Amino acid sequence: MSKEKYTVTAALPYANGPLHLGHIAGVYLPGDIFTRFLRMNGHDVAFVCGSDEHGAAITLRAKKEGITPQEIVDKYDGIIRKAFKDFDISFDVFHRTSEQLHHETAQDFFKVLEEKNEFTKELSEQYYDEEYDQFLADRYISGTCPNCSYDAAYGDQCEKCGSTLSPTELINPVSTLSGKAPIMRTTSHWYLPMERHEEWLTEWIQEGKLDGKQQHDPSKWRNQVIGQCMSWINAGLRPRAMTRDLNWGVKVPVEGGDGKVLYVWLDAPIGYISATKQWAADNGKDWKDYWTGDRKLVHFIGKDNIVFHAIIFPILLKAHEGLILPDNVPAYEFLNLEGDKFSTSRNWAVWLHEYIEAHPDRIDELKYVLSSIAPETKDSEFTWKEYQSRVNNELADILGNFVNRALVLTQKYYEGKTPALGELSDYDKKVISQMEAIPEKISKLVYAYKLREAQAEAMNLARLGNKYLADTEPWKLVKTDPVRVETIMNIALQITANLSVVLQPFLPATAKKLGEALNFKKDDWSSGGKLGHLSEGHVTVKLAILFPKVEDSFIEAEVAKLEATKMVETTFDPQKEETNFDDFMKMDIRIGTVLGAEKMEKADKLLKLLVDTGLDKRTIVSGIAKHYTPEEVIGKKVTVLMNLAPRKIRGVESQGMILMAENGDNELSFVSPEKDFEAGSGIH
Ligand code: 2FM
Ligand code: ZN
Repeated sequence: MSKEKYTVTAALPYANGPLHLGHIAGVYLPGDIFTRFLRMNGHDVAFVCGSDEHGAAITLRAKKEGITPQEIVDKYDGIIRKAFKDFDISFDVFHRTSEQLHHETAQDFFKVLEEKNEFTKELSEQYYDEEYDQFLADRYISGTCPNCSYDAAYGDQCEKCGSTLSPTELINPVSTLSGKAPIMRTTSHWYLPMERHEEWLTEWIQEGKLDGKQQHDPSKWRNQVIGQCMSWINAGLRPRAMTRDLNWGVKVPVEGGDGKVLYVWLDAPIGYISATKQWAADNGKDWKDYWTGDRKLVHFIGKDNIVFHAIIFPILLKAHEGLILPDNVPAYEFLNLEGDKFSTSRNWAVWLHEYIEAHPDRIDELKYVLSSIAPETKDSEFTWKEYQSRVNNELADILGNFVNRALVLTQKYYEGKTPALGELSDYDKKVISQMEAIPEKISKLVYAYKLREAQAEAMNLARLGNKYLADTEPWKLVKTDPVRVETIMNIALQITANLSVVLQPFLPATAKKLGEALNFKKDDWSSGGKLGHLSEGHVTVKLAILFPKVEDSFIEAEVAKLEATKMVETTFDPQKEETNFDDFMKMDIRIGTVLGAEKMEKADKLLKLLVDTGLDKRTIVSGIAKHYTPEEVIGKKVTVLMNLAPRKIRGVESQGMILMAENGDNELSFVSPEKDFEAGSGIH
């Protein structure tokens, strides 16, 4: 029987920041292990991913850093892409949703559904920020989560409890742009009438049946995934807007779509298809083979992505017709860090690229620790103390110690040559049968998405070997029974060879080193668990220490770094990108005196000021009308950016800018000299 074919996806990371260990433990590493295992097992598999470059996650970050959305995604796509490569995550392709191919693919997808009348177009009242003239969907609005009361939930989801939300469900909503309560305004959007799909979704999720056929095995789906989906469905599915009033994203490709883009959660999962298309084009394949017919689609994701992958994207795929639906959606819970949540805003994180830079020779160590604590069924925690103990007590003392003994003793006794396998004792036979059983146990666990246990099972082979040598003590026996020692060492080497096979999905670099030391390179899974890998006389070489111990000073430095770089929770924008002295010196900033002020027509935020700058008297339009009356500002000493290019604001030419201080409550204050300096005084 031919092996099942797979398309494996890992959630497209937002290109709005670097990757931290939480992302790796709960999406990318398990996806990589699963895929490496499938490849070794002879499955036809594609492993696709890419940067998610649209949505408010990107535009808000750009605003914070004071650069354009394109600059943001270019910057973080570069960092993310490199970190994945250095960490040896074996994607077949890592694409980007800002690529033209993706825009076309997403637009074609949208048009197909539009033509099939799978969307409805509706007018609705949506939150709107008057100060920023913008509709507020998704992360543009925040408030209290109706499910867990977390007070910084977003309009699309709560990052604390993982539930998926709509802006109108938030309690006390505020705009994340202005920090103010929004108003309601009418707009029109394309909606996905999800309620039409309740019936088949229920049967598909709970029983695995699609169009009357068994499509997947629900007993292999995690409880959390079925639970979250069913609670969503049972609460009653509602139409969900599939477009947004924004200018960053994939343009709505049909009539009436001007000024609108596709909802990021419509475009992002289609990114899996665009990535496959790019890979297929580059490798002489047909992308459709990976999205149609008899193939298993598997999405590795975090729990906050469940409904998007197990409800919304399946609705879209089915509506499109001809495309496969997921066979499984292995979703991970969250990883915490040293007793607290990972937090980008507080910089409470171990960043993958920084770890790699600091410890380039400790990649497999981190993989091992993260897989050991992977939040498969419940939230889990990374601590540097546990990192140290797992590396030292498990990798170094068990795996490293066993392999080292096997290879070193072989050098010492037989100049590296594999000794003969003689008569087997009952204990030998027991150990061999345990060794032979391990690959099958691992397989069962991997196919059941229990990768944490699967890795533990692979380590059991090292445990078995370590115990075998400790029990048989060849270093003592060698003087009295050298023939028996030959058999013991042969078995120890066979176990080492099998380790180089079964460790491959989990610790690829280590497995490779073992294979090289043994002059034995097998990368098919069926070769795991065999006895006669190394025939008598087969030459092996010594190996450098596989896992140097992690000293206390190592983890103390890491913990100190975390504490030192941690930021207090603040409502202030983070520091902007570095600038240089020359650019700063180009700005002409001076003290000015406000001579006159008046309100501007039909612009309730603006005042028109007449300012004495010491050089001239000029008009400057300033957005301070909600903070100061004209009477209050006349006579004030202010700070003026003189050489800002003049701009027309509501028909009035503004010749410069008044610099204002803004506090955490969004109040404004003039920046005035502490001494009574005259207008024209320079500020440097
Ligand atoms: O939650 C996230 O980080 C999203 N960028 C995941 C997208 S997954 C897929 F749909 F593209
Ligand atoms: Zn919540």
